[in-house]
Amino acid sequence: MGIDPGLSGVPETALWTLYHRVREARRPDTVLPDPMAVHLIEQFDYPFEARFGVGFPVQPQIMALRARTFDDEVRRFLGLHPGGQVVALGEGLETTYWRVGDPQVRWLSIDLPPMVELRRRLLPQEDRQRLWAGSALDEAWLDEVDPAQGVLVTAQGLMMYLRPEEAEGLLVTVAERFPGGRMIFDAITPAIDQQVVRHVRGRSAFEPPPLHWLVGPEDLPRLRALSPAISDVREVQPRVGRGLAGWLAPRLKRIPGLSRRRPMIIVVDF
Ligand SMILES: C[S@@+](CC[C@H](N)C(=O)[O-])C[C@H]1O[C@@H](n2cnc3c(N)ncnc32)[C@H](O)[C@@H]1O
Repeated sequence: MGIDPGLSGVPETALWTLYHRVREARRPDTVLPDPMAVHLIEQFDYPFEARFGVGFPVQPQIMALRARTFDDEVRRFLGLHPGGQVVALGEGLETTYWRVGDPQVRWLSIDLPPMVELRRRLLPQEDRQRLWAGSALDEAWLDEVDPAQGVLVTAQGLMMYLRPEEAEGLLVTVAERFPGGRMIFDAITPAIDQQVVRHVRGRSAFEPPPLHWLVGPEDLPRLRALSPAISDVREVQPRVGRGLAGWLAPRLKRIPGLSRRRPMIIVVDF
């Protein structure tokens, strides 16, 4: 008998992203092999396909390319900071830790209590991993971080669900607490949000929760100016993927008409 995750609202979106990553991972020509995620999804008693539908045709690859870009940034950080601390905010059911497979990393996973409980039950726990149950907005998690070998904070699929003052406050808090550290997060532009409203909402049983913090390329200088502790804000591009969508993914920025509708992955240095 599988496990009923019992999630709704924003936490349920972690099942949505897992579902698409697994659809991509099961392809023989996948851009993101992920045996741990494939094993994980098999443990659920949850109607993934009935709930989320099949989405638009390139959705699994696009979500996997986003995750692969985060993996690349984690590997780059660990190359510069062996034994560094990765803090994964709103980690949901992500399996980045196993995909990256770094033997020295120290990993702190932060999510709301029901999600942390699911991770505890369904994913293996290794000595270098710790789980912290609570909100990313609760500053108590900052005391769990050991910054001695460097800190990378990741927030994949989280910041857009926070209120603007919460998301920007979180960025400033992390910047001021971890000088020399870095944060990576993805952002949804207002143009993508309109597209989602038009194409996704109402087409499956699952109603994506509203997005609150929308960020476009024009906002990057403003983010840079949020605190003197922020030294750089830049966009990183995914690597080339499969087919036309995979070829376009890293080039969207330069394509008139599509450029405003690109999802952004943003790296902030402190
Ligand atoms: C779209 S899912 C992303 C999950 C995972 N990072 C991924 O990319 O598959 C959003 C995640 O953020 C978590 N979340 C929402 N609000 C949060 C908060 N205030 N603090 C910590 N996690 C939160 C949810 O529980 C969920 O796991």
